[in-house]
Amino acid sequence: MKKIGLMGCGAIGTQIALAIDSGKIPAVLTHVYDASKESAIALVSKLNSKPEIVENSHLLSSHPVNIVVEAASQDAVKDVALSVLQNKRDLMIMSVGALLDESIFDILSDACQDFKKTIYLPSGAIAGLDGIKAIKDELDSVSITTTKHPRSLKGAKFFETSDIDLNSIQTSAVIFEGAAKEAVTLFPANINVAALLSLSGIGSEKTKVKIVADPNTDKNTHQIEAIGKFGKMTFTVENFPDPNNPKTSRLAILSAIETLRKYCSDEIVIGT
Ligand SMILES: NC(=O)c1ccc[n+]([C@@H]2O[C@H](COP(=O)([O-])OP(=O)(O)OC[C@H]3O[C@@H](n4cnc5c(N)ncnc54)[C@H](O)[C@@H]3O)[C@@H](O)[C@H]2O)c1
Repeated sequence: MKKIGLMGCGAIGTQIALAIDSGKIPAVLTHVYDASKESAIALVSKLNSKPEIVENSHLLSSHPVNIVVEAASQDAVKDVALSVLQNKRDLMIMSVGALLDESIFDILSDACQDFKKTIYLPSGAIAGLDGIKAIKDELDSVSITTTKHPRSLKGAKFFETSDIDLNSIQTSAVIFEGAAKEAVTLFPANINVAALLSLSGIGSEKTKVKIVADPNTDKNTHQIEAIGKFGKMTFTVENFPDPNNPKTSRLAILSAIETLRKYCSDEIVIGT
C-alpha cells in the first residue's frame, strides 16, 4: 500500500483523509501537518487509523511516504514543494495558482526531471482539461468565466485596492476581467481553475478570465470556451460549494480523491 503525507487539514485535506480512512483510496495516511495544530488534531480525531501529526511541513517528506499531498495554500507550495521532490517523493498540489509564478514552475519542473518524481495537479472544479491538453497546439483562444456568490469571493487581495463593496452587490456583476496571471494573484483562493486551464493550454498571459459576483446564485459556476483549428469546445460546470469552505467546490475535492485513488491503484487508465 502507498503511504501518504498530508499538508493542510481543512476542507479538502479532511475529505481526502476520510477517503483514505474508509478505503476508497487504497493507501495509508501516515503523517499530517497543518499550520494550525488544532486543525490537525480535529482531523485526526475523525479517523479510525490515526496518522502522526508532525511539527513542521518539511518533516512530511523526511518520512518514507510515497507522495505528499498539498491542500494548504500557495505559500505552502512555495515553502515545501522543492524539498518534497529533493527527498524523492511525488507531490500532489491543490494550490495550483502558485505554479503561475514562472520561476517556481521552472524550478519544480526541473526538479521532477532531476529527481525522477511527478507532480500531480488534479483537474479541480472544472472539466475538459483532457480535451484542452490534446488540442493545445491548435488553440487560438481560451477563456473562463467564473460566477460565485459574493461570500465565496470575500477576503480576496483584489478588494484591498478595489472600490467594489461585495455587500452592496444586488444583481450579477462582473468584478474582474483580465489575464489568468493577474486573476490568480488577486483571487488566490478562488481561481485555481484558471491556473489549471492556463497550464493545460496556452499559458497564463493568453488565458482570459472573467469573475462575476452573483448574490442570487448558490453555485460556483465555471464556463470555459476554447477556439482553434480543431474547432470549438465549451464546458460549463455548476458546482455546489463545500459546506465547510464556500470557496471550494465539491468537485475539486472529488477530483483530488480520484487523482489519489488512481495514483494508488494498479488498473486500466481511462481518458487522456
Ligand atoms: N485545484 C483546485 O481546483 C482547488 C479547488 C479548491 C481549493 N483549492 C486550493 O486548495 C487549498 C486548500 O483548500 P481548502 O478548501 O481545503 O482550504 P481550507 O482553508 O479549508 O484549509 C486549508 C488548511 O491549510 C492550512 N494551511 C494554510 N497554509 C498552510 C501552510 N503554509 N502550511 C500548513 N498548513 C497551512 C490551514 O490552516 C487550513 O487548515 C487552497 O489553497 C485552495 O485555494 C484548489
